Order: sequence, then C-alpha cells, then structure tokens
Amino acid sequence: MKVHVIYAHPLTDSFNAALHELAVRSLKQAGHEVDDLDLYRENFNPVLSAEDREIYHDPAINQKHVANYVRRLQTAEALVLCHPVWNFGWPAILKGYFDRVFLPDVSFKLIDGVLSPGFSNIRRISTITTYGSPRHRAFILGDPPRKNGTRFLRAVMNRRVKVDYLALYNMNNTTLAARDRFMGRVRDTMLSY
Ligand SMILES: Cc1cc2nc3c(=O)[nH]c(=O)nc-3n(C[C@H](O)[C@H](O)[C@H](O)COP(=O)(O)O)c2cc1C
Repeated sequence: MKVHVIYAHPLTDSFNAALHELAVRSLKQAGHEVDDLDLYRENFNPVLSAEDREIYHDPAINQKHVANYVRRLQTAEALVLCHPVWNFGWPAILKGYFDRVFLPDVSFKLIDGVLSPGFSNIRRISTITTYGSPRHRAFILGDPPRKNGTRFLRAVMNRRVKVDYLALYNMNNTTLAARDRFMGRVRDTMLSY
C-alpha cells in the first residue's frame, strides 16, 4: 500500500518526532511504500495568499502553486497525520496545508450542487496526536481536533475509509509508562496496515 505520512512538529527531539519516526519505520517494516512529508523540514508555506484565494474556485488553475502536494495525495492509498494539538486544533502549518491543498475539484467535487468526496483513492486514515490537557477537558470543548481528524477527513475520502484516531491526552502529567503504552498502540496500528 502507498501511505502518505504528513508530519508537523518543529523540534527533532520532541515526543511527536519519536512518534513520527516510529510510524514511518513500522509502516516500512509492514512492507508499505511511504511518502513522508515533513512540513517544517520542507519549509511548507501555509499562508493562503491573495492570489491563492483569487484562483481557489477555478479548478483549471487552482492547483498551480500546490500541484505536487495534490499529486502526492491523489496517488496515496492511505494517509497518516502526526502532529501535536495546539490551541485545540492542528498546528498552523498543518491547517495551512489543508487550506491550500484541499481545493475544490481536489478534495471534493461539486457537480450540479451535489458534493462528493475527492480522495476516493484513500481507504485508510490514521491521526497520531498528543494533547497537553486531559481527555475530559478536551471533551468539554467538543474536542475539535478529534472531529477534524475523524469526521471532516472521512467526508472527503473513500466512502468505506477506515479511520483511526490515536491520541495521547494529558501530556502535561504524562508518565514514561503511558508514553510507552501509546507508542505500542501506534506501532501496532501501523503494522496492521
Ligand atoms: C503553541 C501550543 C499550544 C498548545 N495548545 C494546546 C491546547 O489547546 N490543548 C492541549 O491539550 N494542549 C495544548 N498544547 C500542549 C501540546 O499539545 C503538548 O505540549 C504536546 O502535545 C506535547 O508533544 P511534544 O512534546 O511532541 O511537543 C499546546 C502546546 C503549544 C506549544
């Protein structure tokens, strides 16, 4: 399977860096082809410019600045996101990736007023993520990153897509044992691809 991994964390010695490394290694170990996109390392520009916004609704030209990122998604069979939760959402660089790459006629098609998913090639998605806060606090706020990583992404993928949301909450009070258990979950999920 061709798996597109999208990773967003600025520090190479962070826990997320270790999760990213583990995910890529486990997917390769399971025999998959990994197309690994490290947004910080690639210096991805997350800002939707005035020109990007002007051409956003025109499928003939809207991919012009991001065609390579679109192609990487369109040739993937699975998608793995790895990122921390910042301000109960995706880090800005990842949010900007979605703003700029998930375009009309790319992530969704609108034909005669009917919306359909654009990435029918993607049959499995996993999010690997960490929160500072405990789960109950995220729950009270509606846990927007969980909804984005599950419901929103599901809506633009293959109708039968399998979705995993692997989240380690309460990183502000975490223990080595909890982090080890979580890494085991991540490894097992990647090996199950
Ligand atoms: C800019 C910033 C914003 C954050 N906002 C949140 C937040 O809204 N909710 C939360 O649970 N944790 C928040 N955190 C805590 C991070 O989620 C936590 O530090 C991270 O998951 C730990 O992973 P790391 O060691 O790989 O960075 C924030 C951290 C930073 C740096």
